[in-house]
Amino acid sequence: AKVKVLAERKKQISDQLIGVFYEDINYAADGGIYGELIQNRDFEYHPLERKNNDPNWNALTAWEVLTDHKIDSTQPIHKNNKHYLVLQPKNSGALVRNLGYDGISVKGGEKYDLSLFVKEIEGDNVLQISLKDRQGTSYGTTQIRVKGTFWKKHKAVIKTKSAGDELFLEIQLQKPSSIALDMISLFPRNTFNNRTNGLRQDLAQVIADINPKFVRFPGGCVAHGDGLENIYNWKHTVGPLEARIPQRNIWGYHQSVGLGYFEYFQFCEDIDATPIPIIAAGVPCQNSSTGGAGQQCGLPMEEMDAYIQDILDLIEWANGPADSKWGSVRAKAGHPKPFNLKYIGIGNEDLISDVFIERFTMIYNAIQKAHPEITVIGTVGPFSSGSDYEEGWRLADELDIPMVDEHYYQPPGWFIHNQDFYDTYDRSKSKVYLGEYAAHLPGRPNNIETALSEALYLTSIERNGDIVEMSSYAPLLAKEGSTQWNPDLIYFDNSQVHLTPGYYVQKLFGNHGGTLYFDHQLKLSNNSGDVKKRVAVSSVLDESSNELIIKLVNLLPVAVETQLDLDEFNLAPRSASMHTLSGHPDDESATPQKSEVDLDNSKSFNLKPYSLQVIRIKLL
Ligand code: AHR
Repeated sequence: AKVKVLAERKKQISDQLIGVFYEDINYAADGGIYGELIQNRDFEYHPLERKNNDPNWNALTAWEVLTDHKIDSTQPIHKNNKHYLVLQPKNSGALVRNLGYDGISVKGGEKYDLSLFVKEIEGDNVLQISLKDRQGTSYGTTQIRVKGTFWKKHKAVIKTKSAGDELFLEIQLQKPSSIALDMISLFPRNTFNNRTNGLRQDLAQVIADINPKFVRFPGGCVAHGDGLENIYNWKHTVGPLEARIPQRNIWGYHQSVGLGYFEYFQFCEDIDATPIPIIAAGVPCQNSSTGGAGQQCGLPMEEMDAYIQDILDLIEWANGPADSKWGSVRAKAGHPKPFNLKYIGIGNEDLISDVFIERFTMIYNAIQKAHPEITVIGTVGPFSSGSDYEEGWRLADELDIPMVDEHYYQPPGWFIHNQDFYDTYDRSKSKVYLGEYAAHLPGRPNNIETALSEALYLTSIERNGDIVEMSSYAPLLAKEGSTQWNPDLIYFDNSQVHLTPGYYVQKLFGNHGGTLYFDHQLKLSNNSGDVKKRVAVSSVLDESSNELIIKLVNLLPVAVETQLDLDEFNLAPRSASMHTLSGHPDDESATPQKSEVDLDNSKSFNLKPYSLQVIRIKLL
């Protein structure tokens, strides 16, 4: 192939093309990126959180209580956290164990922060609290003295002697007195950016490594919820942990909301990404199992004012001064400075019904009026339903919505054959946020074939970076053994993270983006349509480092000998760094390799079969 990059045919493109879509699906939050190691710490699990109304999913899920006990709710720590455990042992040595999320994994020689609320019901006591395995080996222990008939929060540190997996936290009572326990929590001291109530270091780090320009949260379907009563309410997710209101997750489990809006915004700040909260448009998910006709039901009109006020309160909470009503809630949580919220997404892949349109329009107009500085992102429905997509765009035109969220999950062939998707989009209309996409194969793996079809498509997103403002692959996280949706970008268990070829595509595009796009000429020796569609090029300038970045994708089963003509550019050295991701189409564990490439015009280099190659060249 001959590739000539044209220095004079250029255009400005978005500086935030690659971001991440975060949703609490596949146990992404509790048992996932949220650092908490204790499952059901608040005894608030409930059978109705499971789709099959599972009686084993209850206040004692993940707990083993080896003594007389009851779950009580007469004098809780907080009205939002009703249930707590009362131990009524007849003998000393009574035991309670928390099994974590399929066990607790710890590293050796590290500190773990323990906290719990306790009170005497009858008689004081001393609790021996240890991390143990089934053989009885202790990995670290501490003691807490219980005295007083009022709830008191205790804190202690467990230092681990060695690493261990499938451990449990054991609480042993020194004598047979009755005590109450709640909010039993254990966090690694080493969280991402050393935050208390923080995120799992390794998982947060691999997300940060994508260099995402934004983080969208909390979904996805979680944002608009399973029925009206399950619409995600940001106010339930901020403030002291014991006062937050846990929630049934549309994906069939429990959300402690310990990872709530404060933590999402803080994470965005920690990784220098723009926060993009997605708020339901007053209608639940179209796939709701409750609430009657799903999407066709919406909040009653008499509740809309209060609902809209909640959204305006969110803007005040994020951006208002520390002495404003909601800004003070943020300040009290430890963040007096505003979070600098710029975007709010309203709706998630909704059917564009009359019920939706009426409520969306009310919310949109209210935000525009009160906060013209906030960019509202609308939604154009599920792409697979062509009529919603058209109706969504009609609404976007009518209301002049600045940006709309498009979603599509398609086979690799779709991405290969639709690289011109945005070429003809009307530049005078709404900008596009491609908020959810992924290439799907039967069996739904994330492999070189899916990843490279996404890479091919991303070169077209860069080419259309004047109309496409942002994009995010979905979903992001999946716990192995607890996965409801495949493929995902990052798989993990309690101690390991498994990255996918799709992850590396996002990382390569996220770390090698630019703001000036250059057109190119691509000449292939075999010029048939099918071959042409499987080779793609995108060239951008990183204006901050003055580096030209050329991405080349080869989805052919053969190498393509390539000559790069960069004569129109003033190159510093003629050699450049190159990252190559390649493998067999079925390969699920390929990782990029770094090398040097000589860009002398007379020389050519091989575009490997099934590969993405990213070349970075310093300009003079
Ligand atoms: O990404 C998984 C799901 O796909 C999202 O929750 C939803 O928005 C879409 O249908």
